[in-house]
Amino acid sequence: MQTARLVRYITTPIYYVNDKPHMGHAYASIHADVMARYYRAAGMDVYMLSGTDEHGEKIAKAAAAAGQDIQAFVDHNASLFQQAWALLDVQPDQLVRTTAPAHKQVVSLVLQRLYEAGDIYQAEYEGLYSIGQERYVTEKELVEGKLPEDKDPPQHRRETNYFFRMEQHRDGIRQYLTDHPELIQPPQYRNEILELLNEPIGDLSISRPASRLAWGIPIPWDASQVTYVWFDALLSYVSALGYPGEAAYARYWPEARHVIGKDILRTHTLFWLSMCRAIGLTPYQRLHVSGHLLGSDGRKMSKSLGNGVDPLDAARRHGVDILRYTLVREVSFGLDGVISEQVLIQRRNHDLANDLGNLAARSIAMVQQYRDGRAPAPSSTGELEQALVTRAQALPAEVLQAVEAMRLAQACELVMVFVRQLNQYIAQTRPWELAKQADQAARLDTVLYTLLEGLRVVADLLAPVMPTKMLTLRQHLGLTGACGWNQPWGEGLQAGSTVMPLLLFPKAV
Ligand code: MSP
Repeated sequence: MQTARLVRYITTPIYYVNDKPHMGHAYASIHADVMARYYRAAGMDVYMLSGTDEHGEKIAKAAAAAGQDIQAFVDHNASLFQQAWALLDVQPDQLVRTTAPAHKQVVSLVLQRLYEAGDIYQAEYEGLYSIGQERYVTEKELVEGKLPEDKDPPQHRRETNYFFRMEQHRDGIRQYLTDHPELIQPPQYRNEILELLNEPIGDLSISRPASRLAWGIPIPWDASQVTYVWFDALLSYVSALGYPGEAAYARYWPEARHVIGKDILRTHTLFWLSMCRAIGLTPYQRLHVSGHLLGSDGRKMSKSLGNGVDPLDAARRHGVDILRYTLVREVSFGLDGVISEQVLIQRRNHDLANDLGNLAARSIAMVQQYRDGRAPAPSSTGELEQALVTRAQALPAEVLQAVEAMRLAQACELVMVFVRQLNQYIAQTRPWELAKQADQAARLDTVLYTLLEGLRVVADLLAPVMPTKMLTLRQHLGLTGACGWNQPWGEGLQAGSTVMPLLLFPKAV
């Protein structure tokens, strides 16, 4: 019997194009990309989406400040995001843009339907609006007159808007979160939303007067108003799949995993879940919520605050794979953290150069020195080998379980523990002494083969995090073809294959 292939739809947030990407954006996109690569490696049918959020006040204001035509401005900045992902080995299947006609059509269709169903009404709004966060805020959220993550205080607004009946979904959302405890991860973010749902959430203003802000999707039945940027942006998750009629939508949407930062938790729960309910969409399967990368001033790294660090500079200094590894290993998903130059150097020198790089260099060098560069065939295996084989066989399932919960730091650490075990194995078996004893030749063959096959397992398990370096490692082990997954021990590396010397991770000085 053939089992159906598991399906996964993984999305990054779609990024505002008011500036170029910074390390915080790279953090979100690299997590999504690593998750997508692990799922692909494990044989699943994966579709990954990223893209850019191109409407709204923040962008109109940034274009005006730059003295540029808005469309030209967003085209340019959208291309900077695309280039950054290509340079960082983030490979989405699609980059959606909210200014694309196909997306606009879906937004218009949904608005029209909700309007006809009586879910949208017109009223006057009075309140405080944060352009930085593109949402109305309450007095309670302000610290010294502004949101902590904003540079400027919110503006007072009084205007006629269209409203979406969000409050009527409050009980339904709460019930859904109660019935699906795994929906929002890590759980502290679920608790935060359950708490919010104890108080009224109100209806959602979903339009702006075109007289004040013309940059947006027109409200289909009223050309004097444009669509609120968040109502527009959230729909990109389904418009990109060809909602409502396309096969891709039917296939991938039921398996959606959104990767977001905690700054946009409310919009992805209160707004998006109530929109899904009103439109008749099944909600996403998982919301993976990250903490924030902090700038050197200890505040959330952001374009508006100007404390962003350029991920491409870090990649140029250390290499893309070292940056990817450090981002997922250093800051546990869900918590805040710092990626400084010092942290990059430490992970590079300690985990990668010392532990993994040395293991590869020493193992390959010994095969060259003692076996003419040819992988020997193993013979007598003992307890030490059996312990390593047992770990190697258990690792793929353990790694995948950590990935399912977006605990990528843990996934890396599981493999690095195995790397350290292999290093210990060298210390325990002392191949340089075996090499001196003619009657230990078979034993030495086994030790060298175990090291090479162990490295093959490591390369396969870390390839989603460090695609280029792990492919190089495989090639230097004498393996051809792409990285595999869950290949039984002994069937990866073939005896007789030729190894090549390797300096995988030069130390930073
Ligand atoms: N356009 C909205 C998202 C719409 S999704 C339908 C938006 N864009 S953003 O460019 O401001 O930020 C997008 C995401 O980038 C954040 O949610 C978060 O995932 C990530 N980050 C931005 N700054 C970050 C940090 N300082 N640290 C970690 N992630 C950060 O919000």
